[in-house]
Amino acid sequence: AGGGRVFSGIQPTGVPHLGNYLGALENWVSLQSQFPSVLYSIVDLHSITQPQDPAQLRSNILDMAASLLACGIDPERAVLFQQSQVSEHAELSWILGCLTSMPRLRHLPQWKMKSKQKNEGSVGLFTYPVLQAADILLYKSTHVPVGEDQVQHLELAQDLARIFNNRYGDLFPEPAALLSSTRKVKSLRDPSVKMSKSDPHIMATISLTDSSDDIALKLRRAVTDFNSEVTFDPETRPGVSNLVMIHAAMAMIGVEEAVSQAAGLDTGAYKRLVTEAVIQRVTPIREEIQRLRADPKHLEGVLREGGCRARELAAPVLREVRQRVGF
Ligand code: ADP
Ligand code: NA
Repeated sequence: AGGGRVFSGIQPTGVPHLGNYLGALENWVSLQSQFPSVLYSIVDLHSITQPQDPAQLRSNILDMAASLLACGIDPERAVLFQQSQVSEHAELSWILGCLTSMPRLRHLPQWKMKSKQKNEGSVGLFTYPVLQAADILLYKSTHVPVGEDQVQHLELAQDLARIFNNRYGDLFPEPAALLSSTRKVKSLRDPSVKMSKSDPHIMATISLTDSSDDIALKLRRAVTDFNSEVTFDPETRPGVSNLVMIHAAMAMIGVEEAVSQAAGLDTGAYKRLVTEAVIQRVTPIREEIQRLRADPKHLEGVLREGGCRARELAAPVLREVRQRVGF
């Protein structure tokens, strides 16, 4: 991709699951060698838009740091940091919020969904997409890997770059979406919904720290259908197709190759093949997460170091913003 700077963030919600890995983190790892500048943030300011237990939050931040490192985020190639350690995020968010109208935020999907679930949401939840825009623009980022669910939030960041530039003079590049894979991993219990950490059914989700036995059990119980042949047709056979997709992604082969490896196997036997592929990829990641997690001081050091580097990039941009605004 030549030049450019990538920014992305992930909430510290504990150890990621297979959906996070295949839908986002695997791509984050490969972007490190495609762009000269890459920043990945554990976005704890975003987390407190909903109630958090402080001890749990602190532990989740370290879980996420360990997980990102174990998946292959390399602090030599990416600035890995904790959002709250760089106070410029909050300050730019305030300034951008003053350039955002209430109606512009009111129709964004995440607010509609989450505020309905809670009956009412916090002001922080309402302005969450403005903070996201600040995260991106603070580093003059040019590329943002996003899932489809985040496209409208990135559009707000693009709008705010334009609005700021129009009012105060050109400063921010308009960040482009890098639509990460369209791969969506489905719940193992209900393939009509995506695999999600908020799923209350523990058998629905494979975590990157699941043991080989957990993985085997969850895949054995995965919902398929009454046809025992293995085919790939996400519309009519979402359960089996989810297994094929997971198999292909974990074995790093195409979907056709995965289906052809299933020739002559019924879904029961095929699940064992998928299990092998998942275990092979997850085991070294799990072991590395556990190794890193045993040394919290080291993880805190990595985040502190990343925070320093992020602040070095953020400070001159914010200085320029403040000056343009008239502070
Ligand atoms: P969750 O839905 O489990 O709360 P997040 O919303 O925190 O996960 O998503 C973190 C990242 O992982 C996002 O980039 C999102 O697009 C991706 N992601 C989450 N769930 C899946 C899934 N089931 N399949 C593919 N990607 C996913
Ligand atoms: Na989510």
